Amino acid sequence: MTMLEQANAYIAAHKDQVNPRYRPRFHAIQPIGWINDPNGFHFDGEYYHLFYQHYPYAAHWDSMHWGHWRSRDLVHWEDLPVAMAPDCPYDAAGCFSGTALPDGMGGAHILYTGVSRDEQGRDIQQQCLAHFDGKTIVKSALNPVMPFAMLPEGYKRHDFRDPCLLKTADGWRAIMAAGHRDDTRLVCCSSRDLETWTYEGVFMPTVSKMPECPDVIDLDGRTVVWYSCVDYEGPLTVNPRPVVYSVGETKDNTTRFEGTPLSVLDHGTDCYATQSCKGAEGQRIAINWMASWASKFPTEKLGHGWSGMMTLPRVMHLKGDRLVQQPAPALEAARGNAVTAAQTVDADHPAEPEVYARHAEIQLEADVSDAESLTLEIMRTGDEAVRLTWAEGLLTLDRSTLALSSVNGMACRMSMPLEAEDGRISLRVYVDACAVEVFAGGETMTALAFPEGEGYGVAVKAAGQADVRLNVWEIN
Ligand code: FRU
Repeated sequence: MTMLEQANAYIAAHKDQVNPRYRPRFHAIQPIGWINDPNGFHFDGEYYHLFYQHYPYAAHWDSMHWGHWRSRDLVHWEDLPVAMAPDCPYDAAGCFSGTALPDGMGGAHILYTGVSRDEQGRDIQQQCLAHFDGKTIVKSALNPVMPFAMLPEGYKRHDFRDPCLLKTADGWRAIMAAGHRDDTRLVCCSSRDLETWTYEGVFMPTVSKMPECPDVIDLDGRTVVWYSCVDYEGPLTVNPRPVVYSVGETKDNTTRFEGTPLSVLDHGTDCYATQSCKGAEGQRIAINWMASWASKFPTEKLGHGWSGMMTLPRVMHLKGDRLVQQPAPALEAARGNAVTAAQTVDADHPAEPEVYARHAEIQLEADVSDAESLTLEIMRTGDEAVRLTWAEGLLTLDRSTLALSSVNGMACRMSMPLEAEDGRISLRVYVDACAVEVFAGGETMTALAFPEGEGYGVAVKAAGQADVRLNVWEIN
C-alpha cells in the first residue's frame, strides 16, 4: 500500500469513532485527526478546492500530509481523499504549506515546502512543484525546484518555507518566508516555466521571530501582503501569533513590496495562516486555520479524535488602507429557522429569547445612545457564557467562565475596535459548537470556546438603556 492509500484506508476505517460533541456543522472540518494551515486554495470554475495540513492518525501535529475538500458555495464542504503524503526523499519529513493557481484547464499548479532531514536530524526546507489535475496531485520529477542551495549565504535551512505562487506578465514569482542570520524576511524568486527558479532578493522585511504563510494579492487596485507571526512582541496586539498585513504596491517587476505600517488581520486569538483565492466573480476570499500554536485545542486531551478546523470564508475589500472582511454571502442562503426579539433592554430587563443557538448566526442591532455598555451573551448555560461587551469604542470577548478556557493556555479576553455610528452598533456573530466568529464594522474577531453546558442560550443586557433587535438563525 502507498502512504496515500494507507492514510485514506485509516480514515475510512476510523472516522466514525470521532466524538461529535464539539464538531462544527458549517465550517470546513476534517473527518478525523489533526489539521493546521489551509493550503492550495483555488477555484476551478465549478468548485473551490481547499487542501490543508493534515495528520490523519492522531489529534496532534506529526508528519504532514495534504487533506482535501471541495465546495461549490464555500459553506458545504465535501471530504475528498488525502491528496499528498510525505513519500519522497525531499519531503519525507513533511509536505508543508503551499499555494495553488489555476492552470486554465481545470487543474492547478502547486508550490509547497518539502521538508527532509540532514544527518543530524535537522530540518531542510525546500520548495517543490506539483500539478493538480482536478482529482490527484502529481509531484514534479525535478523536485526540489527551489533547493535551499539557491539562496545566498546567511539563510537558515530550517526556515525557508510556505511559497506563495504569483503569475506575472513574464512568468512567475514565488514569495517565501525566510529566516536569516541577521533578521527575518519574505524573499522573492522568479521563474519563466515554474521549474527553474532564480533568487531575486528580499521582497519585504518582517517583524516576526519567523514569518509564516505569506499571501500577496491584488485587491481593489492595490497590493496587500500578509503573513503569520511566530512569537510576536510589539504594539499591535498581545496575541503572540497574529496575522499582520500591509497595503501598498510591488516594485521592480514584482520582486519587492512597499506598503503601509502593519495592522492585524483579525482581533481574535484563534486565527492563523490566512490564505486566499480569487472566487467565481473575481472576489477575494480568505480562509484561516481556526486555532493557534499558542494554545491547545482541548479535543485532543478529551480523546475526541480530532483537532483544528477552518474559519468561515471571508470576502475581503479595502476601505482606504484598511482591510475589511464580510462573511461569504452563501451563509445567508444557509439560514434556517429564525427567532427575533425586539425590545428595550436595561439592567433589569435583559432580552432572553428561547433559542438553542449551537449552530447559528446571531445578528444584533442596537441603539446604544443611552447605554454605557451592552453585552451579548452566547453559548449560555448556567454560569457559563461567552460575553461580548461593547463599551467606549471597543468590543471585548470574554470566555473566562467557560469550563475549558483556562486550562489550555488560551487567553480569555480579546478586543476589537467598534465605534457606534449615529448611536448604533451592529454585530454578526456565528456560533458553531466550539467556534465563535464576530463580524462588526468590517473587522473580525475569531475565538474558540468550549462550553461544558449544552444549553447554547443567548441574552442581551445593558448598563443604561438600549433598543435592540436580535435575529437568531439556525444555520443548516
Ligand atoms: C504554520 C506552519 C507553516 C508550515 C506548517 C507546518 O502554521 O508552521 O509555516 O508550513 O505550519 O505544518
